[in-house]
Amino acid sequence: MVGKDVLLSVDGIKATYNGAITALHGVSFTLRRGEILALLGANGAGKTTTLKAISNLLPAERGETTAGSILYEGRDVTTATPAQLVRAGLVQVLEGRHCFRNLTVEENLISGGLGRSGSRAEIAFDLEKIYTFFPRLKEKRRALAGLTSGGEQQMTAIGRALMSRPALLVLDEPSMGLAPIVVQDIFKTLRRLNAKTGLSILVAEQNSAIALRYADRATVLENGVAVLSGEAAELRQRDDVKAFYLGQKSAPASALTPASLPSA
Ligand SMILES: Nc1ncnc2c1ncn2[C@@H]1O[C@H](COP(=O)(O)OP(=O)(O)O)[C@@H](O)[C@H]1O
Ligand SMILES: [Mg+2]
Repeated sequence: MVGKDVLLSVDGIKATYNGAITALHGVSFTLRRGEILALLGANGAGKTTTLKAISNLLPAERGETTAGSILYEGRDVTTATPAQLVRAGLVQVLEGRHCFRNLTVEENLISGGLGRSGSRAEIAFDLEKIYTFFPRLKEKRRALAGLTSGGEQQMTAIGRALMSRPALLVLDEPSMGLAPIVVQDIFKTLRRLNAKTGLSILVAEQNSAIALRYADRATVLENGVAVLSGEAAELRQRDDVKAFYLGQKSAPASALTPASLPSA
């Protein structure tokens, strides 16, 4: 793939926790500038570990990458602290929609802009921009985050990440525990953010049906291995993917034939 198109390149990553448990056995994919890439897989497949490796957050969990490389903007992420990566535009919304429950929605959003030491005017400008994408947050801006709905908390967590002006927004299971209509609303907004601002997005999801509907491309993880990659539209059409990831059955994709898809 042409180097300058690639924003994030994950190549042959292996990762362990406590020097013992191997969570990733070989994960590779690339994310091109301006696209939405979905990282799909069942519970325990290694999605969160991959995302934490990308933000260099594994050491904080007694984890480490033991092989492979992760380059963001061509730079090895293990040479930067998580905070430096945020300043470089690699911003992650962790699993579980973390908000400051005792702060208002707006205070939560503002807190996301502080690391960037933006001026008051810049912060006000960014707030308004976020409110145009998430009108619901404007309505709720004076409410304590802890008293808002799960969907509003997820939007607040995303909004807070946007306040640090990411180039690559990384999201860990934004759909978790939310009603389908709320999930759809969130993915629609992500798509609109991508289309209107060029924001690149990497989203880990168990909910393959929704992720494949809104992503450009997807990579499927299984037991710590990337087993399938391709265009979301193509993956949606494939009978095996439909059966195993979009529907009822639970047989593993490793029994399938990943070779027939173009690699990402
Ligand atoms: N902090 C941790 N310590 C030890 N093992 C972990 C830790 N986090 C995850 N794991 C293990 O790593 C594997 C991948 O987990 P994870 O990356 O959380 O998957 P997913 O996000 O796809 O559900 C699982 O077997 C899980 O038990
Ligand atoms: Mg996870």
